[in-house]
Amino acid sequence: MNTAICLDNSENNAKVGLTLKRLTLVNFRNYKYQRLNFNKPFIVFSGENGSGKTNILEAISFLSQGRGLRNAKLSDVRTFDFLANSQSTPTFINNNGWAVSALFENFGDEYLIGTTVETSTKETDYNETKETERRIIQVNNQKLSSQNELANYTSFIWVTPQMDRLFQTSSQNRRSFLDRIVCSFDTEHSKRLSSFDNVYRQWLQLLKNNNINNNWLLSLEEKIASIGVAIACSRKEQINKLNNFMEKNPDDIFPEAYLLLDGTIEKMLDDKPAIYVEDFYKESLFNQRRSILYNNACSGITKTDLKAIYKTKNVPANLCSTGEQKSLLLSIILSQARSIVNHKGLTPIMLLDEIAAHLDEFKKNAFLNKISNLNTQSFLTTTNIFEFMSIKDCTQFFELKDNIVKEHTF
Ligand SMILES: Nc1ncnc2c1ncn2[C@@H]1O[C@H](COP(=O)(O)OP(=O)(O)OP(=O)(O)O)[C@@H](O)[C@H]1O
Ligand SMILES: [Mg+2]
Repeated sequence: MNTAICLDNSENNAKVGLTLKRLTLVNFRNYKYQRLNFNKPFIVFSGENGSGKTNILEAISFLSQGRGLRNAKLSDVRTFDFLANSQSTPTFINNNGWAVSALFENFGDEYLIGTTVETSTKETDYNETKETERRIIQVNNQKLSSQNELANYTSFIWVTPQMDRLFQTSSQNRRSFLDRIVCSFDTEHSKRLSSFDNVYRQWLQLLKNNNINNNWLLSLEEKIASIGVAIACSRKEQINKLNNFMEKNPDDIFPEAYLLLDGTIEKMLDDKPAIYVEDFYKESLFNQRRSILYNNACSGITKTDLKAIYKTKNVPANLCSTGEQKSLLLSIILSQARSIVNHKGLTPIMLLDEIAAHLDEFKKNAFLNKISNLNTQSFLTTTNIFEFMSIKDCTQFFELKDNIVKEHTF
């Protein structure tokens, strides 16, 4: 049975916070040019497999720091003409890069955010030239010095079908999920992560090149240790806060989760001062100089895992049923969103790709109802438009077919 959702909001005239009002895509995956205007709290994209639904959510996710919800290579995003040659080597449709631009409103304040890629040619150590691409971001036509500054303007939470198996896949995926949660509460976290990445890569490169400049290596190890410990501290602090929030605000339908950080550095910080942990980390990097060349990742914050417990049953998430794991994931996501709304005010925009999979009708409607009560704007995808009839009164529907996006009215 479909119960109507959103009636509360329309009666109370509740105001949605951060809102995406207009989106323009240029040379973005299957879209050569597409402009869309949004005017409802829920936006549903429907269409058959491969029609370009996830591509739109991905484009929106590029309006935050990082490489979007697919964690894509920047060079994969530009529109290819797959049929242009027979060698199955994709050909670029033209020489222009891709771009996404969007008009946002946050409680009456409007701003325009645009992102594109800049290609530069670098000479390598072996006298060859190498093309590198990096993302450029503008807010109201002013270039940002770093993409981390985007955290002051946008906030997104996404759920993708791949995340249905979050507790069973590699720890890398859970680490990304963990760091996205931390970034949503601590705007400095992404800056620390990119600085860490930068020094860690330099250190690895020196070791790979057999560079035995000991002072240089030592200074990089010192930097890795100090930024690494700051990252671990923030992860601990924000996950503790989220656990407390979940304990104090249990949901009536979605199961209560308890999150655990499984990492040497984070665990050591339980009972040792940060300065001691930094020294330990530095020494461990020094001792791993040789083995890292065969291991690829050395112990430290790059190996930390996030575990979740289904609290009332005391069962680790990876041993729960598929539906239970999805409910647990949505419970964490809901608490994250509620906690952001409570503490920060920049309401996150929800990107919900195939959210209804593995959810029964009751849970799906309950989730939509809870999101609607948060007054967030949500983008959803589906292969079956009728899945979202319960929210039809507060939803804009778009149908995708043959690279054409058409608004659908009921
Ligand atoms: N760089 C690119 N250039 C052109 N087309 C691309 C590019 N990258 C991906 N595509 C195409 O975009 C199409 C749509 O992909 P998308 O993942 O958005 O589909 P979808 O509607 O979400 O499908 P599903 O229901 O299976 O999840 C795919 O057919 C894919 O081949
Ligand atoms: Mg998809």
